Amino acid sequence: MSFRFVSTGSYVPENVVTNDDLAQFLDTSDEWITQRVGIKERHISQGESAADMAIRAAQNALDAAGLKGEDIDLIIAATLTADHRCPGVAATVQNAIGAHGIAFDMSAACSGFIFALETAAGYFERNTCTRALVIGAEQMSRILDWTDRGTCVIFGDGAGAAILEKGDNLIASKLFTRGGNEVIDIFDVTVETPFYHPEEKWMPHVFMNGQETFKFAVNTITTDIPALLEEAGLTDDDISYYVLHQANVRILQFAVKRLKSNPDKFPMNIDRIGNTSAASVPILLDELNRAGKLERGKLFVLSAFGGGLTGATAVVRW
Ligand code: UT7
Repeated sequence: MSFRFVSTGSYVPENVVTNDDLAQFLDTSDEWITQRVGIKERHISQGESAADMAIRAAQNALDAAGLKGEDIDLIIAATLTADHRCPGVAATVQNAIGAHGIAFDMSAACSGFIFALETAAGYFERNTCTRALVIGAEQMSRILDWTDRGTCVIFGDGAGAAILEKGDNLIASKLFTRGGNEVIDIFDVTVETPFYHPEEKWMPHVFMNGQETFKFAVNTITTDIPALLEEAGLTDDDISYYVLHQANVRILQFAVKRLKSNPDKFPMNIDRIGNTSAASVPILLDELNRAGKLERGKLFVLSAFGGGLTGATAVVRW
């Protein structure tokens, strides 16, 4: 036993930042970002935290299902960017919507939402919750180095959520972590205490070896998806959509080619939303759902990769 999807929701801040806006203060261009990454614009918070966005996405998912906060007894929020360490995003959402039970955050970078789904499945298996709210929420803009053109142009802010009930719609999954900070490292602020005076001081920022991350992403997607389908006795013909982490349009194009699949099965919103880390997969899922593209009973693949390094792939039934 695992879960079934009841509803989805998402939210992105109103403020749209185009590539030309970035070129006002960075040595970059619309042409470079469009060609190398596939992003035209992203939504950037003007004061809304990851928790604020998570609350909007959660409310959206509750409204779609005709449920109230009190109907939820488990909240898991995948995030890297909570502005309060405690209470975290999940606890803040719980308080805002009037839910009860268990609420906690987890950090598995861009793979976080799928890690959170897998975690929720465990609660359903053990009958320790009745209805879960799983969220991916990120205010990436608060941890970016806005002078580093190699990283700040690719990210955006937003939140996505799904409400789950007990069911058997998690068909197969594969999660992994290859711990290390050589490829992606997200620094927190350096803290000086009366007992420690660090030589180096830094502000929060994202270090990313773009090309190594790119190789890791393509390798993860093109190895884990076919392996998981085979393990589940499925083929590409059984899958209606591949809902992949929106990190770079070229990564998505590689995936289509290597999986020898139909590009129409790979929905994309990276051009409008950018890379929203843990929020990427649930925002895209919500867009598909609201567009009426997810037919009950059909199978689709969720797959993400990112810092940690982490990778997560799941075959789910809608
Ligand atoms: O969600 C976490 C997972 N993250 C990812 O999956 C990201 C994966 N990696 C990527 O998407 C790409 O590697 C990037 C978009 C980050 C970078 O693209 P790239 O084609 O790998 O570029 P590069 O790092 O090899 O840089 C090529 C050139 C360099 O200039 P030189 O040294 O050749 O003169 C960079 O300085 O492009 C330059 N460059 C830029 N130029 C204009 C890097 N960023 C920019 C920019 N605008 N924003």
